[in-house]
Amino acid sequence: MTILPPAAEKPAYVRRMFAAIAPRYDLLNRLMTLGRDRSWRRTVARLCALPAGGRLLDVATGTGDIAYEALRLDPTTRAVGLDLTREMMLAGLGKHGGLSFPFTEGDALRLPFDDNAFDAACSGFMMRNVVDVAAAFAEQRRVVRPGGRVVCLEITLPVAPLFGWLFRLYFFRLVPLIGGLISGQRRAYTYLPHSVAHFPRPAELARIMTAAGLHDVRYRLAMLGTVAIHWGIK
Ligand SMILES: C[S@@+](CC[C@H](N)C(=O)[O-])C[C@H]1O[C@@H](n2cnc3c(N)ncnc32)[C@H](O)[C@@H]1O
Repeated sequence: MTILPPAAEKPAYVRRMFAAIAPRYDLLNRLMTLGRDRSWRRTVARLCALPAGGRLLDVATGTGDIAYEALRLDPTTRAVGLDLTREMMLAGLGKHGGLSFPFTEGDALRLPFDDNAFDAACSGFMMRNVVDVAAAFAEQRRVVRPGGRVVCLEITLPVAPLFGWLFRLYFFRLVPLIGGLISGQRRAYTYLPHSVAHFPRPAELARIMTAAGLHDVRYRLAMLGTVAIHWGIK
């Protein structure tokens, strides 16, 4: 059974879905990851390897958690958050008193920025939601300066037999239930595991990044192999 929309309908589907879950998005992230998501975002921010005062583009910033984490690591960072869904960004705006950065509406497949405009670009839990993963990486590569990094955080299904089975039970059965109860949007939390199941495995994703023109592409797994962080250099 798949509930994934056809490619032509995906952008509108994704935007509607995130608009609906925006008010409960952060809370559900904390609950479903037992609060570990913050450390993955911190790792992403570190892997961006920004210089002091560096320019960071957080693509599909959502409620801004990666950009906020980058600002916590180094308050001189000049971050910009871009997302398709205004409601997600509104939920993130001003949520951490002293920290702020500009949010802008836009599409990861047509970034409204000049070539080489940033020191690094990153995305968290976005790539599963775009219709063309290679094009999304190519766009991030375009707006990053030569030598700058592109970093990607995504969920992946673990391969260990017993844990893999347990995780699938949690992810395909419990997550839609809990997500549905708390957000009132069970369909969105059913889409989540199905979108991960149809997403390239980490080694394949690294190949896609290389084909998009990034070099020295590497990745590391976290949370018992359920999270993958990839990075490459322009
Ligand atoms: C799961 S949320 C992740 C938000 C944030 N990066 C985080 O780490 O929590 C996915 C986000 O991707 C955004 N998104 C999906 N497709 C997009 C696209 N083509 N361009 C820009 N944003 C997109 C959605 O609107 C949503 O806010």
